[in-house]
Amino acid sequence: MLLQKVFHGTNGKLLISCVNPLITCSSVARLKHTQNELNEHRAKVMGRGLPERKPLPGVKSIILVASGKGGVGKTTTAVNLACAMKVIEPDKEIGLLDADVFGPSVPLMMNISGEPMLNDDNLIEPLLNYGVKCMSMGLLVSGENAVVWRGLMVMQALERLTRHVAWGPLDCLVVDTPPGTGDTHLSLAQNLPIDGALVVTTPQSAALQVTRRGVNMFEKLKVPLIGMVENMSHAICPKCGTKNFVFGNETKKSAEQMRLEIIESFEVDQNMSDCINSGKPAIYALPDSIHAEKYRQLANKVFKYIENKDNEQANAKKQ
Ligand SMILES: Nc1ncnc2c1ncn2[C@@H]1O[C@H](COP(=O)(O)OP(=O)(O)OP(=O)(O)O)[C@@H](O)[C@H]1O
Ligand SMILES: [Mg+2]
Repeated sequence: MLLQKVFHGTNGKLLISCVNPLITCSSVARLKHTQNELNEHRAKVMGRGLPERKPLPGVKSIILVASGKGGVGKTTTAVNLACAMKVIEPDKEIGLLDADVFGPSVPLMMNISGEPMLNDDNLIEPLLNYGVKCMSMGLLVSGENAVVWRGLMVMQALERLTRHVAWGPLDCLVVDTPPGTGDTHLSLAQNLPIDGALVVTTPQSAALQVTRRGVNMFEKLKVPLIGMVENMSHAICPKCGTKNFVFGNETKKSAEQMRLEIIESFEVDQNMSDCINSGKPAIYALPDSIHAEKYRQLANKVFKYIENKDNEQANAKKQ
């Protein structure tokens, strides 16, 4: 009900500011379940088998950027990947969905703001920057308002951000996900035909352990894994050029155990952080940097993955 009000204004614009998205403590308490109850419910849902995953109209491929762990660079990867895909294939239509309804950071990192408009079909028009179509909960609720989304509300919010947005035509939709292995991932995996997930991690054993949980979840949900993106692999001393493995060096071993290929590895770089936090991804701000080159390579590999998958599906249909 709350979301209906949020999304459908009467004058063609979205009436977001008139609804305070902060749910009162009493309604949160009503929705509260113990972790055991949630796990049991999740296992039951998964056990029932997956519902039919309906494609998004006009969207050819969907790629998730995920990790169990927070703060490892998922959004940085998703933003740069989407921009790099547009840069290397300018004729292709690329979208970026910020599925982190709890802490949306795509608006800042893609330098987009303002209320999205509704089109004649009552669909929300994505905002465009760097040639990439973007949508985020951060554009639909005011930045200062705390948002407490639980269970069903997360699913309703994702339904709006996917099926009530004029995404098509799109060759690829890159989806940035929140940390954890919760309702968002379950909802996306159950409802959308996801072509593949990229798993982002740092080389820290704590991060890798949580990443493994994410990988297990995707395997259970039958979401194909494209591979691992190692972020913040090491830092280089600006004075002597020595490589410092500040977060350890466990990625290779863990990737082998998870049977995942490390498809790209990014070192810690202050410029990266500065670019992304100022709303100009490295692909555009520092096109000659090693990071930009690696993001273009990553984009290439994702395009190849999609092409191979399309060919396999076409061959399977012929047989
Ligand atoms: N390779 C890098 N070098 C330097 N800083 C980086 C690098 N990658 C990411 N960062 C910085 O680390 C911080 C966290 O990155 P980001 O927001 O992309 O992580 P996240 O996994 O999406 O976090 P969350 O789980 O909160 O959504 C950001 O300030 C970003 O600028
Ligand atoms: Mg993020």
